Parts: sequence; C-alpha cells; structure tokens
Amino acid sequence: MNIQVCKDTNSIGKAAATMFAAEIINNPRCVLGLATGSTPLPTYNALIELNDAGIVSFETVRSFNLDEYVGIPRSHEQSYYSFMFENLFSRVNIKPDNVQVPTPASTDLNDDCVAYDAAIDAAGGIDIQLLGIGHNGHIAFNEPTEVFPFGTHIVDLTESTIEANTRFFDCAEDVPKKAMTMGIGSIMKARSIVLIATGAGKAEAVKAMIKGEVDPQCPASVLQLHPNVTVFLDAEAASLL
Ligand code: GLP
Repeated sequence: MNIQVCKDTNSIGKAAATMFAAEIINNPRCVLGLATGSTPLPTYNALIELNDAGIVSFETVRSFNLDEYVGIPRSHEQSYYSFMFENLFSRVNIKPDNVQVPTPASTDLNDDCVAYDAAIDAAGGIDIQLLGIGHNGHIAFNEPTEVFPFGTHIVDLTESTIEANTRFFDCAEDVPKKAMTMGIGSIMKARSIVLIATGAGKAEAVKAMIKGEVDPQCPASVLQLHPNVTVFLDAEAASLL
C-alpha cells in the first residue's frame, strides 16, 4: 500500500482527483469505480473543477458505483443514485447512459446482483476504484463477517452503519436496513484502488486496515493483498499508525 498523509481534506481531494484525471487522460474510455459518503466529496469537487477547466473530459468515460440502499426508490433524495447525480454526474460531461449505480429493483434481487457483475465484466472491469471506509472497517457495504463475500450481493446493514447514516435521514427508523453492494472480489478485481479516510473517527478502522491481520472482521484489511492501492489520510485518520 502506498500511504500518503496529507494536510487537509481539500489537498486529499485534489491528490485523489489527480489520480483519476491521469487515468482518464491516459485512457479516455476508462471505467471508474465510484463511491458515496461525505469523504469523496472534495475529490468530486476537484474533478468538477478539472472538467470545467477543460483539463479532463468525461465524454467517453464509464462508471460503476459501489452500492445502493434496498427499499428506497432511485428518486429518493438519499438514494446513492440521487447522490451521484447531485454531486458529480450532473456537474461534469459524463453521459447518463455511461453511468451505473446498483439498482435493486427485481423481484429476485440476486438477479440484479448477477447482472451488475456481468455489466462490470462486459465493460472490461474497473480501471480505478475510489473507496471510503466505515467506522467498523467496511468498504462499500461489505460489513464485518466470517468470510470475504466475492461478488455483488445483498447485505443487512449493521447497527453501527445504520447509526452512522442516520444523519442523512429524519430518524434511524427511516434508514434502509439492507443494501446491494459490490463484493470484496468485485472491488479487488479493480486494476487500481484509491482509499480515502479523514477524521479521528476513522483512525481505528485505518489502523486495523493497514496494521491488522487480513481478516473479514475488518473488510478493508483485504486491500493489503491488492498490488496497487493508494491510501490518502489526514493526520487524524493516521493518528494510530
Ligand atoms: C457508507 C458507504 C461507504 C462509505 C461509508 C463512509 O457506508 N456505503 O461506501 O465509505 O459510508 O461514509 P463517509 O465517507 O460519509 O464517512
């Protein structure tokens, strides 16, 4: 892992956006893996600036998002689909037909999971994947568990994840209890990975990810086995290393 400790969230956003921009400039038809949460916002803002300045064009870029809640429609203001359009897709020149967010909508949600992995494979796989990390070490919505789940699947969210996401809803009861998420295998197949963690609340998870054993109880620890991972941290998130 290439670990970079940066001075603040804006410099992390610029550094991560530079890696995505370089990928797009090298391969204008590249496939991006994108994430939600508050952590990626400075990166998206920096990418929007690069797009506005004419330095990066998303014209032929395709993207796949990591995850989506089960049980709220795409049109819900807290769906990850809405989040991505509000914070990135509607603000750069990416084609709406070229973006995919998991859509758990069929009567058999497993069909949606299989179709999502097939779509990623058909696109040639993910060239560069953006990740945040949950307080319990989850990546996407892969929660701590006994074995690393391979492909896209449906998960029950843990109490701590529901609690962390309550800030976006009126109350904890409104937070969806299930999600559709890329699996650990889907993420590990990405050719390169950029993980960002900021704030003291992420310090324990960052320590377990980098210094701990590779263990599905800390899903992010699997990244120790990936050959091309860059981790951007602020001083607080890096404080226990
Ligand atoms: C959710 C998302 C994750 C994200 C995490 C942390 O659980 N599914 O992809 O990494 O939240 O979010 P934040 O960046 O807001 O701390």
